[in-house]
Amino acid sequence: MSQHIVNNFRNNGYAVLDPSYYTDFLSYGDLSSIQASYFSLASDPYGGNRYRAYSRFTYDPESKLRSLQVTQNYVQTTKANSSDGGKVRKFPPIEEKIIQLPGIDRLIDFNFKFAVEGGRLDGADLIDIGLHQIRYQPDCDHPSYSSPLWLHRDDETVVFIHLFNLSSSSIGGDNLISRNPTEIEYIVRLSEPLHSLVVDRSVMHAVTPVGAVGKMPAFRDILLVTFEKCVDIYSRSQEIA
Ligand SMILES: [Fe+2]
Repeated sequence: MSQHIVNNFRNNGYAVLDPSYYTDFLSYGDLSSIQASYFSLASDPYGGNRYRAYSRFTYDPESKLRSLQVTQNYVQTTKANSSDGGKVRKFPPIEEKIIQLPGIDRLIDFNFKFAVEGGRLDGADLIDIGLHQIRYQPDCDHPSYSSPLWLHRDDETVVFIHLFNLSSSSIGGDNLISRNPTEIEYIVRLSEPLHSLVVDRSVMHAVTPVGAVGKMPAFRDILLVTFEKCVDIYSRSQEIA
């Protein structure tokens, strides 16, 4: 792992990772399977012209084993998400055949090591890992957008954003980084499969809505991989902004 990129993350609270960090260990077959799975995601019942699947695991850094948690509900605080925070949201789980891919284990291991070397996780605690597959799928009349829509800090300690598919007919979908609500520090468009961004809670982030050019189908597909010490996620529904 390049120390330069880890130091970027350690010093700035975010870093952009080229696809080559992941193509080193993620096979073409696994990448293709993950990319194909976005075409069968279920519609996100909470709107935004999104399609979505979510699975939550407990990860033991010592054994490197991850186990699917009994509850797959998703809860954010209202501080982290002014649109849907405080709600207990339910999404379909990620397909078993995707969860079982060796490439997913390798991706989690790489990201975990990165977060530990970046000084954000101590490397010994049991960790909650969230995997969110999200497809933004606008049409020419209806943009697709994130929840929350604008700058925010996630509840989780470290969040990786991996691009898997981006149609040439889409516009927008740019990731923003900010340290206060009146200034944008950095903007990046993840533009090819496995082009990735990692953020911690020292910075705010957002992604611009995705639109469609012309009549062609448009989509932007990402995998969020979140890490935090094991928590009671239901306490988040009680937290007041
Ligand atoms: Fe976020």
